[in-house]
Amino acid sequence: MYLAFMSYPYQITSYSRYREEYARSEQDPEAFWEDIASHFIWRRKWDRVLDWNFHEPHVKWFLGGRLNITENCLDRHLREKGDTPAIIWEPNNPEEFSRELTYRELFDQVNRFCHVLVRNGVKKGDRVCIYMGMTPELAIAVLACARAGAIHSVIFGGFSAQSIADRIQDAGAEYVITSDGAYRGGKDIPLKQVMDDALGGCPGVKRVIVAMRTRTPVSMMKGRDVWWEDEVAAVDAIAPGNFEAVEMDSEDPLFILYTSGSTGKPKGVVHTHGGYMVYTHYTFINVFQYQPGEIHYCTADIGWITGHSYVLYGPLSAGATTLMFEGIPTWPDAGRFWQIIERHRVHILYTAPTAIRSLMSFGTGPFEGRDLSSLRVLGTVGEPINEEAWHWYHQHAGGGRCPVVDTWWQTETGGVMISNLAGVTPQKPAYATLPLPGVHPLLVDESGKEITGNGVSGNLCIRHPWPSMIRTTYGDHERCRQNYFSTYPLLYFTGDGALRDGEGYYRITGRVDDVLNVSGHRIGTAEVENAINMHTGVVESAVVGYPHDIKGQGIYAFVLFSGHHGSDEELTRRDILQTVARVIGPIAKPDKIQFVTGLPKTRSGKIMRRILRKIAEGEREQFGDTTTLLDPGVVGEIASGKI
Ligand code: PRX
Repeated sequence: MYLAFMSYPYQITSYSRYREEYARSEQDPEAFWEDIASHFIWRRKWDRVLDWNFHEPHVKWFLGGRLNITENCLDRHLREKGDTPAIIWEPNNPEEFSRELTYRELFDQVNRFCHVLVRNGVKKGDRVCIYMGMTPELAIAVLACARAGAIHSVIFGGFSAQSIADRIQDAGAEYVITSDGAYRGGKDIPLKQVMDDALGGCPGVKRVIVAMRTRTPVSMMKGRDVWWEDEVAAVDAIAPGNFEAVEMDSEDPLFILYTSGSTGKPKGVVHTHGGYMVYTHYTFINVFQYQPGEIHYCTADIGWITGHSYVLYGPLSAGATTLMFEGIPTWPDAGRFWQIIERHRVHILYTAPTAIRSLMSFGTGPFEGRDLSSLRVLGTVGEPINEEAWHWYHQHAGGGRCPVVDTWWQTETGGVMISNLAGVTPQKPAYATLPLPGVHPLLVDESGKEITGNGVSGNLCIRHPWPSMIRTTYGDHERCRQNYFSTYPLLYFTGDGALRDGEGYYRITGRVDDVLNVSGHRIGTAEVENAINMHTGVVESAVVGYPHDIKGQGIYAFVLFSGHHGSDEELTRRDILQTVARVIGPIAKPDKIQFVTGLPKTRSGKIMRRILRKIAEGEREQFGDTTTLLDPGVVGEIASGKI
């Protein structure tokens, strides 16, 4: 089956149509998704739409279907959109020129890089680790892996050498694509140097392809490291022509993306070609109400799921123009987003509450003289948005006229699950509102009993599979089962708490497990504790979150230290921060460290985090029942301690 794709007949354009589509997806989810999937290019049509059970778990969509996601993101747009920009790239430094790649140019570049990959030994199913800044080469590398049938594993540029090494080893990646360095705000990050440190512990890596960006001096290891530019030149010299996309099974893995859970070790979430393509496309078209010709600007880094789904795959599968920004919102000043929007006449801005709150702290000066009239839709993702930030965003960025979509989803869900559809379904500040068609959320109590009715809260679960749901955690399927499918039998458990108001709208209240959400980045408390405990002199630590005005949540560490602080406790604090930055990366550095002489533990040795959370929130007296503690006296001591 080879269907050309013309428009978006499945775009929901009214509230009543949303209701109808939702009902249809409930009555017959398979017919619903089959209909949408039929609008893509498949080399072979599926034999069966869905096969699943949540025991194992076992979830397969479009079984027997054959395709390559990049044919849907690139090839099918060439005839009608060959000269339309696919990617507009805005550099970190506003003085540098931006770049545009039309669909034809992006197609050519991806094809050339596929030849580079194959020439360097990459085969179908191989894992390729990508560690780059936000440049067009990152997009090209990702798409070329997909086209060549390799599984990409992108690692955010803020992770440390140790974190990279752990991920490379867990994925068994033999190939790495990186660059000499990356620009982020006022900083140059020496990516290749960090990668070299990581590779010291990864003897399995056979080839490292290095793109040039910052001209930071790098050491190139003979026989292992090659320059991107030399490799592309070598391919061009042979002029091998287009690279035929490798035919994949619908369920073949497309990528692995590592994310934090409640245990110490990040998990490799696996997504596949078929279902992920269908779902990211469908949600992109509907949530943002994308119209052909518009410019979509998602500020997320491709190192996170939002970048995968809504900088690259969702928009490109829709033939959209996606804007990629290399820098940060506050450099060279806090008007950078608004300058980009004015400069490129952006229609859709999709960013995180943390960015909004941080820009709020600069006041409205940065908007002065800026023409933001091109904006039509605003979006947020990654963490709960408070009402004040919602209104500020709506009023100042959107001039009061643009709908704000508050999109709730996760690395594991692949695409947006609960959100209003811009201008089509009702919006409500701080509420993600209603589930997308095909998504069946429910709230349960601690015992797993469903909480029905409206005006209730509980733990958020999902009842039925959707096409882009997590398939496994790479190399450890049991972990996937335990993490998501064992807490409440036969349900996917999100790890989030939510409330459903009187009208049935959902508001996500935050994680109910030991995962923090700091500036929209997921960080496991156990991961941070492990890192802190690596510092000599640290006996034990306990990490909790606390409300933070800008980051949403801050990291508060209680540390039992037996070493000598020497002359200065502050120095020990800095050493601990350094240790965390080295082990995980700067994003996981605690905001507060309090040295303690003991931690509140039950007789069975379990740390009572509930009490520590209260202390971190500023409570000094009311801690509830402390009688089960081994040493209740320690609570008062910690509460009166200084940080
Ligand atoms: O707690 C929820 C929060 O972010 C978590 C998922 O993090 P991650 O896998 O890194 O993906 C972030 C981008 C999709 C969720 O479990 N979260 C995400 N979006 C929202 C949110 N919390 C409240 N409102 C949202 N819109």
